[in-house]
Order: sequence, then C-alpha cells, then structure tokens
Amino acid sequence: MQPALNISKLHKTYTASKGTASKIALNGVDLQVRRGSIFGLLGPNGAGKSTLINILAGLVRKSSGTVQIWGWDQDVNPRQSRAAIGVMPQELNLDPFFSPAAALETQAGLYGVARADRQTAEILEIVGLADKANAYARTLSGGMRRRLLLAKALVHNPHVLVLDEPTAGVDIELRQMLWENVRMLNRERGMTVILTTHYLEEAEEMCDEIAIIDNGQKIAQDSTTNLLDQLDGRVMVVQPSAAPTSIPTLPNITVEHRTDGSLAFAYQARQTSADQVIDAVRQSGIGIADIRTEQARLEDVFLALTAKRPIK
Ligand SMILES: Nc1ncnc2c1ncn2[C@@H]1O[C@H](COP(=O)(O)OP(=O)(O)O)[C@@H](O)[C@H]1O
Ligand SMILES: [Mg+2]
Repeated sequence: MQPALNISKLHKTYTASKGTASKIALNGVDLQVRRGSIFGLLGPNGAGKSTLINILAGLVRKSSGTVQIWGWDQDVNPRQSRAAIGVMPQELNLDPFFSPAAALETQAGLYGVARADRQTAEILEIVGLADKANAYARTLSGGMRRRLLLAKALVHNPHVLVLDEPTAGVDIELRQMLWENVRMLNRERGMTVILTTHYLEEAEEMCDEIAIIDNGQKIAQDSTTNLLDQLDGRVMVVQPSAAPTSIPTLPNITVEHRTDGSLAFAYQARQTSADQVIDAVRQSGIGIADIRTEQARLEDVFLALTAKRPIK
C-alpha cells in the first residue's frame, strides 16, 4: 500500500526580492507518512515546516523534488493529489463577508463536491459552529475563525488532514476541542493527520510518529516511543520506607533528595541497568516503600537533536 504522503528530495529556495536575499527553506527533505497515523512535524521556528505544508497545500511552489499524496504525484496528477489532502493553514485567511456556511459551500464548490454530497451542516456541527452558520466571518472570535479554517479543510472529506500550528495562541478549551476533533476524524473517518505544533507535550500525547526538521533538513524520524527511548538518561524515584539517615553515594548514579522525601536516582541506561540501581539502593540500607521511573520527555529529545530551545 502506498504511504499517505511520500516526499522525496524536496527543495525550496525562496528567490531574492528587493531588500531580501534568497533563502533555502527546504534542503532535500525525504519524508514518508504511513496511512492512518497521526504524524507530528516538529522543528524550531524557521525550520521550514510551513513551507513544506504550504507546498502540500499547493500554496507554495517547490523548487525541486517529488511529492506524492495518497499515491498521486503532485506534478503528474495534480487534481487527484489535491483532492486527497485538506490543509488548515497557520495564517488566518478568511473572507470577512462570508458566513461559515457560505465559506464551506464555496470551498466545496472549488473542490468540485456535488451539492448532494456536501456536508456543510455536519461539518459545522463537528467543529462546534452550527449556531454560527449564518454569521459574518468578521463577527467570529479568533477561536471560531480557527475552527472555521479546520471546517474548510474538511469539506471534500480528504484522506489526509494537515494542520499547521492549529493550537498556537489558542486557549485550553479550544485546544482540547481541536484535539478531540482530530482524534475523532482519525479514528472514525480513518483520516491520516499531519500536524505541526510548538507544544511538545501535545505532540508527545497526540502523535504516534514524529519527524524533526531543522534548518530545512530532516534530522530525525521515528515512532514517538522510539524517539523517547533514544535518550539515555533515566531517573528512578524511590519513596524510602523510613527517612534515610544518610544519602548513599553510588558509582555512576547521582542521587537527589527531594523535598517530598523521595530519593531520585539518575543514571545512564547504557551504563547501569534498573536492576543494578535497585540493588544499590537496597545495599545502602534504604527500604523501598514505593518506586517509579520518570519518563524522558520529547522536549529533551528535541533539545538534544536541535541544540536549541524550542519556543513554548
Ligand atoms: N515567502 C517567503 N519568502 C522568503 N522567505 C520565506 C518565505 N516564507 C518563509 N520564508 C523563510 O523560510 C524559512 C522557513 O520558514 P517556515 O517554513 O515558515 O518555517 P517554520 O514554519 O518551520 O517556522 C524561514 O527562514 C523563513 O524566514
Ligand atoms: Mg510555521
């Protein structure tokens, strides 16, 4: 089966215009996205994420390389590849005089969706805009406009839904609603979802696979679990059965006495096994009332790979 998205050797150079030099935004990106996945495209500001997504959306023209969406090559079968994808862009681009219902009808028309097949009311229901169906877009709040952008991406029931920073600067409630929508569309309609986000905990929670791009190049791609496992640092937190009289010093393990009374043992997985840590704790005379391990966070992986601080 063809992947949902297959990108090969993708290059994009924005040509120089007066006052600005030319800019290489994508420098040979290969990317495959499995059908049915929720895929995260991460990277620091300016990495090239929106450029890639805008190429998928047909809003930016690539310099070279190939893009296949649902098996359709953008250059060979532009109509089919365009029909296979729906994009919610980062920028708000709505006609202020259109109501949500009219915006969706127009969008459906652009995609050649027959009147009988249109799902305007249903889509407005999904994104929670049913009661605003006939209000002018300019009267909608920022959050409602975002939801309308998502709705527009859905009118032709695409195989692949792409969301560029859908939750940047939106409140918690809208964020949760967007993610619920995304999960539902993935689960119930089998949509493949590709998203970018600055919130790494969000990607960690939502995405089963992640690619990290930096400086126009892909620097990592793996399942979220494998990416997290890549990190060598581990922390085992022990709740001692009695307050320890002294803090043990252990080879290759650093010990931190936390304010809640627990002891955090930090070690490198390649150097020390969990077994060895537990043995060392017992041998130092500390009884174990409770024990847990702390997970590496995607943020740590991201920082290790890009050596930059992500914007949060
Ligand atoms: N229309 C444009 N013209 C010139 N340079 C651009 C344009 N759009 C983006 N860029 C540049 O391309 C690089 C990648 O930008 P972008 O794809 O928006 O990154 P991201 O979405 O990862 O933050 C940045 O250096 C940005 O300044
Ligand atoms: Mg962007």
